[in-house]
Amino acid sequence: MKNINTGNISLTNNICLGAMYLGSKTDKLTSEKILDTFTENGGSFIDSANIYAHWITGCKGGDSEAFLGEWIRKRKNRDKLFIATKVGIAYPGVERGLKANQVKTECEKSLKRLGVETIDLYYSHADDPATPLEETLKAFDELIKEGKIRGIGASNYNTERFKKSLMISRQNSFAEFCCIQQRHSYLRPTKDFKFETQVLADEFLMELCKYENIALLAYSPLLSGIFTSDNKTLPQFYNTEQNRGRLKILKNISGETNFTVNQIVLAWMLNSEPPVIPVIGVSSLEQLEENLKAVEIKLDENHKKILDQYFYQK
Ligand SMILES: NC(=O)c1ccc[n+]([C@@H]2O[C@H](COP(=O)([O-])OP(=O)(O)OC[C@H]3O[C@@H](n4cnc5c(N)ncnc54)[C@H](OP(=O)(O)O)[C@@H]3O)[C@@H](O)[C@H]2O)c1
Repeated sequence: MKNINTGNISLTNNICLGAMYLGSKTDKLTSEKILDTFTENGGSFIDSANIYAHWITGCKGGDSEAFLGEWIRKRKNRDKLFIATKVGIAYPGVERGLKANQVKTECEKSLKRLGVETIDLYYSHADDPATPLEETLKAFDELIKEGKIRGIGASNYNTERFKKSLMISRQNSFAEFCCIQQRHSYLRPTKDFKFETQVLADEFLMELCKYENIALLAYSPLLSGIFTSDNKTLPQFYNTEQNRGRLKILKNISGETNFTVNQIVLAWMLNSEPPVIPVIGVSSLEQLEENLKAVEIKLDENHKKILDQYFYQK
C-alpha cells in the first residue's frame, strides 16, 4: 500500500478479515477459531470500527475492538497483525462526525479497547461534509506524528471528495489517504438506489485508484451470502436483468473451474487491475476456509475478460 509502512507484513494479493460481528453476533469461541485459522493461514489484515456492532442485542459499540484486544492479549501476536479501525459514524453516546476532537477522542478509546500502542490503519468511516476536510486531515496527521496511528484510509467517500482530500493533504503536507474502502461486489444495485451511509466503488474511483496507486478495498463482497445460500434472495434493488446475467456467468465459470461462485467473486477482485482487496465477513470456519482459497486462484485471461465485460455492462 502506498503512503503507509506495513513493516514486514505483506498486504498485496491478500484478503482482509472483517471483524464486525466477531465476539457478538458470532459467538466468542467461533470468533476466536476464525481469527486463529485466518492467522494460521497467513492472514494479518483485520478490519474493525469503533461502532461495531452496537446494533446487536447486548452490544453498545466498541465490542469488536474489545474482543480483538482480548484475543491479541491471549495470543501475544500484536506484531504479526495489521489492524484497521474506523471513526466517524454515530453510536450510542457518540455523534456522527470527523471534527478534530471527535477523531482524537475516539482514537484514544479505540487504542484502549484494542490494547495496542498504534493503530496500523485508521479510517474515516464516512465523509462529514459539515467539517472542513483540512480539520480532519490535520487531526489524522497529528495522530500519525504522535505515533498513535500508522496511516489513514477513507471509507464511503464519493470520488470528488476523495480526490479533494488527496489534494488538501498535498497542499498542507499532511499524510494522505493510502486506501479507500467502499461497498463493492460482482452484482451492482440499480442506479437510483441510495444506501444510507454506504458508497459504492464506481468506475471513476477505480480509475483514480489506478492512477494514484491507491489500494481499493471492497466491503460486503459476498452480499451477505446471497451467491450460494438457498435461503437468501436478491434484494429488490439487485433484481435486474444485468445481475441475472452476472449470476449466470459466475455459475458457468464456477462449473468450468470447479471453484465456488464465492471464490470466483473474490478471485475476480484479487485478479483485477488494480487489485481490489476484499474485506470478508464470515460466521463459520467453513466459510472462512472457502473464501481464503480465493487468494490462490489465478483466473485465466478469458474468464477475467468475460467477468469484466458483464460487470461493466450498463
Ligand atoms: N466501511 C464500511 O462502511 C463497511 C460496511 C459494512 C462492512 N464493512 C466491513 O466489511 C466486512 C464484511 O462485511 P459484510 O459482513 O457486510 O460482508 P458480506 O460479504 O456482505 O457478508 C458476509 C456474510 O456472507 C455470508 N458468507 C460469507 N462467506 C460465505 C461463504 N463462503 N458461503 C456462504 N455464505 C458466506 C455469511 O452470512 P451468514 O453469517 O448469514 O452465514 C457472512 O456473515 C465487515 O466485517 C466489516 O469489517 C465495512
